[in-house]
Amino acid sequence: MATDRSQMSHYERERSAVFHSWSAQAQIKPLMVQSAQGVYVTDEDGKEYIDFSSQLVNTNIGHQHPKVVAAIQEQAALLSTIAPQHGNIARIEAAEKILDHSFEGAAKVFFTNGGTEAVEHAVRMARLHTGRHKVMSQYRSYHGATATSINLTGDPRRWPNDAASAGVVHFFGPFLYRSAFHATSEAQECERALANLENTIQFEGPSTIAAIILETIPGTAGIMVPPPGFLAGVRAICDRYGIVYIADEVMAGFGRTGSWFAYQQHGVTPDLVTFAKGVNSGYVPLGGVVINEAIAATFADRVYPGGLTYSGHPLACASAVAAIRAMEEEGIIDNARRVGEEVLRPGLAALAAKHPVIGEVRGLGVFWALELVTNRATKEPLSPYGTSSPAMNELVAACRREGLLVFHNFHRIHVVPPCTITAAEATEGLARLDRALDSVAQYYVG
Ligand SMILES: Cc1ncc(COP(=O)(O)O)c(C=O)c1O
Repeated sequence: MATDRSQMSHYERERSAVFHSWSAQAQIKPLMVQSAQGVYVTDEDGKEYIDFSSQLVNTNIGHQHPKVVAAIQEQAALLSTIAPQHGNIARIEAAEKILDHSFEGAAKVFFTNGGTEAVEHAVRMARLHTGRHKVMSQYRSYHGATATSINLTGDPRRWPNDAASAGVVHFFGPFLYRSAFHATSEAQECERALANLENTIQFEGPSTIAAIILETIPGTAGIMVPPPGFLAGVRAICDRYGIVYIADEVMAGFGRTGSWFAYQQHGVTPDLVTFAKGVNSGYVPLGGVVINEAIAATFADRVYPGGLTYSGHPLACASAVAAIRAMEEEGIIDNARRVGEEVLRPGLAALAAKHPVIGEVRGLGVFWALELVTNRATKEPLSPYGTSSPAMNELVAACRREGLLVFHNFHRIHVVPPCTITAAEATEGLARLDRALDSVAQYYVG
């Protein structure tokens, strides 16, 4: 017999029927969201929040952008779905727009439903192109939740999913604040991380390695901007050993760092680029892989053994075209860079000067992490690696009370608002964060 839900609140129905990602189901208290507009989210009680999380760092053009909503409505009225083997102008235009903003020599786009599938397919392409199997990725990374991408992931979410059979080799990337190389400067960290990577390749067997996949700026794992020269060094190593360089731009791409793609600020040309999230701000699920000429040519007369019923879905592609056009027309990427430099960088530095619990601030554009510690000298994190803590739970609850949604991971708070945020909204969000940080001052023991 069907459950009688007539007396249940939305919250009770949500808790009763919906199974959530990455959660112990009985221990979560989801925010019940009614609506959203721009950088604001409103809950079912009418309380308004500034969205410093961009949800899962994906609403780069903000919520309910009218041009994107209209494009989805128009496409739905014209052609809501079409099989991937048929051509369609929405898909063509989305591919062209993405290629137009990509690297010189970007030849084709393969569309997926999101980021993890993009990673799966990029790895499959690299393996078939090189005839090799192993793939290298960094500790402190996130690449998705399906078979290969969760194994590539370098954070504790991999552990319960790790079959140790995915042909993945992890290595430490540059991260001076918690240097794996005992480095004392960015230049030293860069040089030692590259030497370590090359050494690892030599001992793994260069001829066994198909690809190195790197988040251009590791996102969920802590927004560690690579030191100058690191990505160019990785590119050179890939060239030396015939390894495919996959730039995972699922989180860093489409404006978040103040450029179309983050790799463009490092003067490097990847072979494959994975994207999702900001490509259409997640209004309809979409991801994909930008493919260079050489890899595209591999599959000119050889079947690519992969596909998806919804590859290049017209609603998703129409929303991507509209989102990219809006970014072009409205200077949204410049805005992200400007707010990052003029408001977030100095504003977060001021918070760090005031709150000792902030061990480090790092980032650029609308892509910032606060490393929270109980002691600046020992860098003891505010919650242990891989878990949360009462202090972090209190901080996130305090942010909510103040009307602020933040992205948080272990002992870090990420300030990652939409690229469309105004200076005034960013300033107001920082004021709310400032008040929330007061609530965890007692946990600092340094
Ligand atoms: C860098 C990176 N790659 C891949 C993914 C997986 O994307 P999705 O959740 O759309 O599958 C994510 C998601 O956060 C990501 O940040």
